[in-house]
Amino acid sequence: MNPLHRLAMIALLGVSGFGLLGANSKYWSPTCATGLQAFAKEVHPFLRTRCASCHDSIGPGPGHAVQDVEEAYGIAKELVNFDDLPESMFVRRVRSHHWLEHDPKATGPTVEEMQQRLEAWWSQGEKDCPLSGGLVTEPIALPMGLPSFESGKFTTLRWDLSRLTPSVPNLQNAYFEIEIQKFNEPGNGITGAYRFRKPRIGTGLTSLRFKGIRILVNHRFNPLENTYMRASGVVPVGLLSPQGAILGEFPVLSAESLVVLQRSENDSISIAFDELKASTPIQCNRVDEFERKVLPIFVKANCFECHGGGPANMQGSGLAKELFSMNRSSAELCSQSLARMDRSVPESSALFVYPFRTRFEHPAAPTSVPASPVKRQLTEWLKAEAGAH
Ligand code: HEC
Ligand code: HEC
Repeated sequence: MNPLHRLAMIALLGVSGFGLLGANSKYWSPTCATGLQAFAKEVHPFLRTRCASCHDSIGPGPGHAVQDVEEAYGIAKELVNFDDLPESMFVRRVRSHHWLEHDPKATGPTVEEMQQRLEAWWSQGEKDCPLSGGLVTEPIALPMGLPSFESGKFTTLRWDLSRLTPSVPNLQNAYFEIEIQKFNEPGNGITGAYRFRKPRIGTGLTSLRFKGIRILVNHRFNPLENTYMRASGVVPVGLLSPQGAILGEFPVLSAESLVVLQRSENDSISIAFDELKASTPIQCNRVDEFERKVLPIFVKANCFECHGGGPANMQGSGLAKELFSMNRSSAELCSQSLARMDRSVPESSALFVYPFRTRFEHPAAPTSVPASPVKRQLTEWLKAEAGAH
């Protein structure tokens, strides 16, 4: 992202702020023991004494102060936004002294009192409520001093996929990795943000099918920002050491980077998948089409020089070879290439974007190999593959 882009993005974040962060219910169970317990202790008695005159089962207001604590909990959850307590219905209605409209003699709590109750509810239980609606990794507390945007550097976070909730079989020796940097610090009315890039799944036992990758900050998820574009795909088994550790070849799953808002000074990050499961290996059914449409591009654009292999059996070098060795049979190179293609949006595939849009400092393809015919050929290859399934 160039600096101008970044300024535009910061302006956008500044304007939208936390206003966007509300629709996260998919990742929260509607009932949750620790949340209910904290509500029963910290909020329910307060609502009973301060609000029940109008918010009991007979109204006139909605029933967040009913005697039945579970029922009150269910109603109250709809009226609180833990991402932005001051903008919660509860706090807004206390701030407006809305009870005066209904009873001019009524007195109510202060905004501070209301907010304290809600904060206690969160910190004493609601924050530990299990996630639902997906497969979720354990959270990783972000290390202090993440590299800044200005430094151009990133740190890699890695999760052990054998510890997903709920657990999935055959994920021993499977990892998810992503790079992170601090996109901007909070201040001057701007919300802090992180930038993520190069998501990868490494798997040692079996090919894995994934669908929908989301980044959760403090267990929460904003559908507008934290979703990786690439909807689904299959990751092939990587190289294993004799001890079973994955040595390399984690195909990059997306060539996009993602800017995600910071939520607190001590954020933790977890990853949620809509689906992640063992799959039959990715396999090209139209290796002939790959040889006709894609291999010639690799030859003309000198991909083999760095990635190894090809007709001249190049040596390759360093990271290029480690992350994506092209020194393999046509059939294998075809499936490894397919793993780096986004079938739903071919032109945002890593295989195209890295060299032809010089993403992430990848060396540019030579000008003698223009991007648009390449895009067309890749699309034709994918179409032939799809037709063969
Ligand atoms: C004197 C009566 C009265 C008291 C006391 C009162 N409310 Fe209300 N409240 C109402 C009425 C009536 C409504 C529904 C009409 C409206 O929206 O103004 C309402 C609506 C609300 C709403 C909006 C609910 C929704 O779904 O739109 C919230 C939130 C709320 N009250 C919170 C509280 C809290 C918290 C307290 C106690 C600290 C409280 N109220 C005390 C009468 C009262
Ligand atoms: C001058 C050397 C060089 C050339 C030529 C080159 N690459 Fe790369 N490529 C690299 C390096 C270095 C990386 C590792 C980038 C990184 O740090 O993620 C890489 C990474 C990639 C990746 C990401 C692999 C992954 O899974 O992480 C793809 C896809 C890729 N290259 C495709 C190509 C294609 C297609 C060509 C030819 C059009 C090509 N490259 C030509 C050096 C090169």
